[in-house]
Amino acid sequence: MKSSLLKIIFICILVPCSSFAQEAEENIGEQIFKKKCAGCHGKDGNVQAYGISRKLTEIPSAEMGDRLKLFQSDKNLQNSGGVSAVMGKQVSVLDKQEFGGVLLYIQQNFAADK
Ligand code: HEC
Repeated sequence: MKSSLLKIIFICILVPCSSFAQEAEENIGEQIFKKKCAGCHGKDGNVQAYGISRKLTEIPSAEMGDRLKLFQSDKNLQNSGGVSAVMGKQVSVLDKQEFGGVLLYIQQNFAADK
């Protein structure tokens, strides 16, 4: 009896906190996108960056994550001097929360299968 009451109290405390955390991450993502990504990809994600990338609105959600993680982790790509080096630079300056936030933002707002 006592423990189920404790559980209820615990859940009541936990749920609003986690939804705040998610909201905060989304807000960060939106700010970052507008400041650091929209210039090349368009504020609605429907511009082909440098005329060569796909529109963000054409990319399935899971693939967005794969592409961004690759740009972030692949040092050869970052040092290649090619167009992919551009994206490496964009994402390597983001901290973990900013990276997660911006990824969530583009997945929820632009992905082809959103
Ligand atoms: C200076 C211009 C520029 C900025 C700013 C920029 N990008 Fe890009 N982005 C590119 C280019 C160019 C490519 C294509 C790179 C390639 O195909 O190797 C690309 C590719 C991508 C792709 C993969 C698209 C595909 O065709 O698979 C995603 C996702 C992406 N960018 C997200 C972002 C996010 C999120 C930000 C902000 C943190 C951002 N970009 C900022 C130029 C930019």
